[in-house]
Amino acid sequence: MSENSKKRVLSGIQPSGNLTIGNYLGALRQWVAEQETFNCYFCVVDLHAITLPQDPAALREKTREVAALYLAVGLDPEKVTIFVQSHVPAHAELNWILSCLSPLGWLYRMTQFKDKSAKQQQDSIGAGLLNYPTLMAADILLYQAHAVPVGDDQRQHLEYTRDLAQRFNSMYGDTFVIPEAMIPKEGARIMGLDSPTAKMSKSEESDYHAVYLLDPPNRMKKKIMRAVTDSGSEITFNDDLARAGVNNLLTIYQATTGETKEAIEAHFAGKGYGDLKKAVAEVVMAKLEPVQTEYNRIVGESGYLDSILAQGAERASEMAEKTLAQVKERVGFLARR
Ligand code: TYM
Repeated sequence: MSENSKKRVLSGIQPSGNLTIGNYLGALRQWVAEQETFNCYFCVVDLHAITLPQDPAALREKTREVAALYLAVGLDPEKVTIFVQSHVPAHAELNWILSCLSPLGWLYRMTQFKDKSAKQQQDSIGAGLLNYPTLMAADILLYQAHAVPVGDDQRQHLEYTRDLAQRFNSMYGDTFVIPEAMIPKEGARIMGLDSPTAKMSKSEESDYHAVYLLDPPNRMKKKIMRAVTDSGSEITFNDDLARAGVNNLLTIYQATTGETKEAIEAHFAGKGYGDLKKAVAEVVMAKLEPVQTEYNRIVGESGYLDSILAQGAERASEMAEKTLAQVKERVGFLARR
């Protein structure tokens, strides 16, 4: 199939901390599978990262790290476009145009805004944090993406993107493809190891909250062995909040191995929580070992990552500029001659 007739996919990750197995199981793992059938655009969303304060040197370093991890997990730069969001100015431009169409009521309703702003001083919350979903809509709509592979926590942002695209289309005529969220059946919401009723997050301070993709194997093991469980002994998938820790470990095992729930429960029948943790640590370490080897190879090859990102920005700009030009024409901007 030619690149033009394939359906398009776009997704991104913020370079705002260390990528976790949540990011891998909820997002990256799907991206790798999709590169075979879709025309894919994957960006490192640095413009989103600055909606909360970032240290400039750390932001630059994390941006490269996230891009190198995209490659290390198996994305093939010959098949997909990998780029840095701020390298394509069309994202910021479309963000502005869409902001003018974004009702404040919609934005104030976003749960992620409510959660993140609750942790800040009320009068120092940046306007960018409120406008975060509009920038995300711009990312997606610029590439006329049909599908957006994300974890469960992005569901509401995807609904928002669809609503905004429909609003634009009905005001100015059919312009944007209305995208669908693509959320994996297993692993869409990995919980914190130390707090299994809260989503695993890359910006959590606690040492035992998350397994990072670049953690040394013994550190991964230590974190998993310390995971919070409960006072029971049965190893079964269970939605009961009191069993959230065991359920989370089983979910990590399932999403990592691809085995069925029945096979996994049968495998752990009669075993203890210590056995479960050891088994989870083993499959996670085995999955990430080749990723780390590849990561080290990529960052060790001088100039390689920069050339991939330069080529990615060029390819992404081509598509983004095309959509932006159409949008500008529709809203009535005078073309520059
Ligand atoms: P971010 O950087 O928080 O997370 C990146 C991706 O990882 C998924 N994810 C998880 N999946 C399962 N369990 C978890 N504990 C977990 N934590 C994170 C997220 O759902 C996401 O898919 N707003 C986005 C970035 C973004 C974006 C976009 C995504 C900006 N523009 C356009 C898609 C399309 C975000 O904050 O992701």
